[in-house]
Amino acid sequence: MKGNHLVIKNTSEVVTCSGFKGKKGKEMSDLHIIPRGAVVIKDGMIEKVGPEEEVLKNLPLEEYEVLDAKGKSLLPGFVDSHTHYIWGGYREEEYSWRLRGDDYMEIMNRGGGILSSVRKTKAARKDELYNDGMKRLDSMLSFGVTTVEGKSGYGLDFDTEIKQLEVMADTDRDHPIDVVKTYLGAHAVPKEYKGREEEMITEIIEKVLPVVVERGLAEFCDVFCEKNVFSVEDSRRLLTKAKEMGMKVKLHADEIVPLGGAELAAEVGAVSADHLLQASNEGIDQMAEKNVVATVLPGTAFSLKEKYARAREMIDRGSILSLATDLNPGSCFTESIPLIIALATLYMDMTTEEAITALTINGAAALDRAETVGSIDVGKQGDMILLEHDSYKFIPYHIGVSTVEKVIKKGKIVYDKEDQPCVIR
Ligand code: NIG
Ligand code: FE
Repeated sequence: MKGNHLVIKNTSEVVTCSGFKGKKGKEMSDLHIIPRGAVVIKDGMIEKVGPEEEVLKNLPLEEYEVLDAKGKSLLPGFVDSHTHYIWGGYREEEYSWRLRGDDYMEIMNRGGGILSSVRKTKAARKDELYNDGMKRLDSMLSFGVTTVEGKSGYGLDFDTEIKQLEVMADTDRDHPIDVVKTYLGAHAVPKEYKGREEEMITEIIEKVLPVVVERGLAEFCDVFCEKNVFSVEDSRRLLTKAKEMGMKVKLHADEIVPLGGAELAAEVGAVSADHLLQASNEGIDQMAEKNVVATVLPGTAFSLKEKYARAREMIDRGSILSLATDLNPGSCFTESIPLIIALATLYMDMTTEEAITALTINGAAALDRAETVGSIDVGKQGDMILLEHDSYKFIPYHIGVSTVEKVIKKGKIVYDKEDQPCVIR
């Protein structure tokens, strides 16, 4: 029985990113590399990792599928801890509007932006959302992503929010990538609730959250805590209630205006606070102190032509920093991990090692999954990527292009560039 039993040998290096919790500050620089390492995966879980000779000694190889890494570098699969990958329709016009100088929030306040995706997501059939979601997951897999977070928030009303979460569950069931589901019903204020945001939060708390919790539709509750969206008070009330009901919480915080979202994240014990372009030093320090992961999304700052979050300073102040794509149809339409790595290293002054930590073990920590994924450690899920090169240093060096050759999910090869040439000639 070979099942999901796999041995990976003949690597140049196993970049383990070893650890079972988020890494802070200087810890982010150590990738815990095993030169010429090997890995044994049994029933989809990592059974052994170490120098090849040690790992292969006395191993009944005939019970395993063997992958010859041909001298290439092996890493944990990437964890993309912030995406909105289920949505209907597109907003390609807005891109040109923003190029001519229209403001992102202004577009939303005149009924476009998130509210435009809400209308299109309401109108979309479940099978359409499912098919588009599966294609987006396929693309993420090609970049080496093995765990992804997905948010609702393009429904806002009860039925469409539930529809989005159900579609997410269907894609999770059918796709090799594991999906962590987040309920983001407080993502924007529909016209009919303008000036009645408090009431909208009350309705979410009384009518939607109990169903989401009861049906296990989402593990996290998120909120867009922002000027002209949901205030710190509204966000606090929602997240506190969600926690009381047993959910974990995260926030879109201090993205456009410094509202105190980072401080709120520390106060309510969020697992992560995301964006943080405008976060104050106090907020950053409070988050670090409470082990709230700081998730920065350079693709969004790039796409909106905003100043990047102060990642370098956050790491130096002791943050657990994670990087994610923020894939969505408006502020950042990209699932490209190589783009995020390029921006992090070239424009946010992060080192290659820090960027890799931020997309593996710290991404896992941002989803409260650091004990099960995000590193190559015994007892964790066998989720890995084999590069086309012999060193992880090629990841940022080949700018904007994926260096992932194979993706292994729970011990099975689920993506192989060598097997699937895209060019027909
Ligand atoms: O994370 N900031 C709020 N929400 C999303 C954008 C969603 C959209 O523009 O559709 C974000 O950037
Ligand atoms: Fe987002």
